[in-house]
Amino acid sequence: MPLNHRIVLDNRPQGEATTQNFKLIEVPLPELQDGQVLVCHHFLSLDPYMRGRMNESKSYAQPQPLGEVMIGGTVGEVVDSRHPKFKAGDQVVGMGGWQEFSVVDATVVGALRKVDTTHVPLSHYLGAVGMPGVTAWYGLVKIINPKAGETVTVSAASGAVGSAYGALAKARGCRVVGIAGGKDKCDYVVNELGFDACIDYKEHKDYLSLSKALREACPNGIDGHFENVGGMVLDAVMLRTNAFARIAVCGMIAGYDGAPLPMANPALILVNRMKIEGFIVSEHMEVWPEALQELGTLVGTGKLRPRESVAQGLAAAPEAFLGLLKGKNFGKQLVKLV
Ligand SMILES: NC(=O)c1ccc[n+]([C@@H]2O[C@H](COP(=O)([O-])OP(=O)(O)OC[C@H]3O[C@@H](n4cnc5c(N)ncnc54)[C@H](OP(=O)(O)O)[C@@H]3O)[C@@H](O)[C@H]2O)c1
Repeated sequence: MPLNHRIVLDNRPQGEATTQNFKLIEVPLPELQDGQVLVCHHFLSLDPYMRGRMNESKSYAQPQPLGEVMIGGTVGEVVDSRHPKFKAGDQVVGMGGWQEFSVVDATVVGALRKVDTTHVPLSHYLGAVGMPGVTAWYGLVKIINPKAGETVTVSAASGAVGSAYGALAKARGCRVVGIAGGKDKCDYVVNELGFDACIDYKEHKDYLSLSKALREACPNGIDGHFENVGGMVLDAVMLRTNAFARIAVCGMIAGYDGAPLPMANPALILVNRMKIEGFIVSEHMEVWPEALQELGTLVGTGKLRPRESVAQGLAAAPEAFLGLLKGKNFGKQLVKLV
């Protein structure tokens, strides 16, 4: 019987996650039943939300069960099928998890989706033309809802979500300012992604200093902000918001290891009559087709050229994932399996 390699969550982190929380195991591949499809994964997506799933604590989703394959988005090729809508050779996106192969019950709506790689490379279906891209789209379009000429900002600007946000906001005629860690990332955000400016938060020792830099980059103030990080970055942005500013709260990666992230000036929510709204993209499946259509066009026409950090081989996944939580990735973090 052919074998499959997978990474399971072996134990839960105490504070910072480590490679010791994961275990690589070998399991036999079961025989396909009616309605099932066998997929060989070419790329595995690593995403910050996985850190939250490693904890036992209450959240918007169930914790990752111990001893089971780590959750994760995958793209790959069908190698065998007992479902009439899929055949060997089809390229598909699904939630196959941290493993080389998955057996998918394709009768479950949305479990497996065929993708067209004529204009969009397969791996981008895990990034700009996938969940992270739709996340950017939802926060920008449905929460910030900017008018042309408004100034919008985003933290973790060079990443999977941030890069898509920039292209979507430019397409709506906004001034777009990013915040990212390090000169290389900031240069990429401006020169390759087409943002109007990008501020290196690591150059600033506190939020007041970062806020001063934001004032220069956003002379008309900030009308909309997309938050991926929390802490000092959010505090700095809050100080520069205009009346009736909207903040889409997408992520708080600075606190994913459990550190509290107090807010320096919550009174600004009242003073500036702000709208601050958190969201989870998987709870808004109704927008995915429209968002994916726009994102696919942006990538297909070269208006969005997303960057990828690619780790090689399944065994590299834990280290790459921990690096993502520390900003070692540069663009969408993937693991190449084939
Ligand atoms: N709400 C939802 O439905 C949803 C869906 C998808 C993603 N998200 C969230 O969106 C955010 C971005 O996700 P992504 O997949 O696009 O990841 P990403 O931006 O590609 O990678 C994460 C980036 O976060 C930054 N970072 C890490 N630790 C930081 C810290 N302590 N302070 C400041 N920045 C830090 C790093 O960039 P720098 O080097 O620039 O600091 C790192 O490269 C995450 O918070 C994620 O949880 C939410």
